[in-house]
Amino acid sequence: MKDNLMTTPEHLPVPRRVLVATAATAATATTPGHAQAQPAPAAGAAVNPGAPSLSSVTLWVNGEARALNLDTRTTLLDALREHLQLTGSKKGCDHGQCGACTVMVGGRRIYSCLTLAVMHEGDEVTTIEGLGQPGNLHPMQAAFIKHDGYQCGYCTPGQICASVAMIEEIKAGNPSHVTADLTAAPEVTAEEIRERMSSNICRCGAYSNIVDAITEVAGRQA
Ligand code: FES
Ligand code: FES
Repeated sequence: MKDNLMTTPEHLPVPRRVLVATAATAATATTPGHAQAQPAPAAGAAVNPGAPSLSSVTLWVNGEARALNLDTRTTLLDALREHLQLTGSKKGCDHGQCGACTVMVGGRRIYSCLTLAVMHEGDEVTTIEGLGQPGNLHPMQAAFIKHDGYQCGYCTPGQICASVAMIEEIKAGNPSHVTADLTAAPEVTAEEIRERMSSNICRCGAYSNIVDAITEVAGRQA
């Protein structure tokens, strides 16, 4: 261990890493740029390192401007559910693994648990509440009911938002992992639907009926 030890004037062994750390601290403290980046708090100023950093953001949710002042760490899902009381979007895993929180932003499906609300200033967000309401259902909502595409219903808002956006992806010609011919427009087959909807888990196993519902709506739109 001789390499890692030095001798002080008092003849005490000092680990080299301690000396390196001490030298680095001294160099940092005397670097002008560093001192500017982290100014000392003003005398008497209250410092609360645990205080949240707030930011204002305006989201266009289901066609309406909604202004919020949020902790910058707030996910889009929590902004919708906890701040706007739009509880149709569900929190399943909160880790981007189940799809229960799927909403559409700018017409594209995303996991709202994996994105921060403050990243969506001015964005158009569509939740299940914006797709349709009782008495005025979106065709996909009606098809899920007709084909019994749910049991407990917890995954259903995410399944419906995902399937509406997914049909647009097919119509736009976006291929999937199972698209055989990348030069031809993809077709709405059961295989394509299953692959493209694999981002949304249904713990009740209503998959067959979900595919039937989506097939019917996609066929109607074709
Ligand atoms: S709650 Fe967002 S993916 Fe599961
Ligand atoms: S209907 Fe229960 S999880 Fe899908």
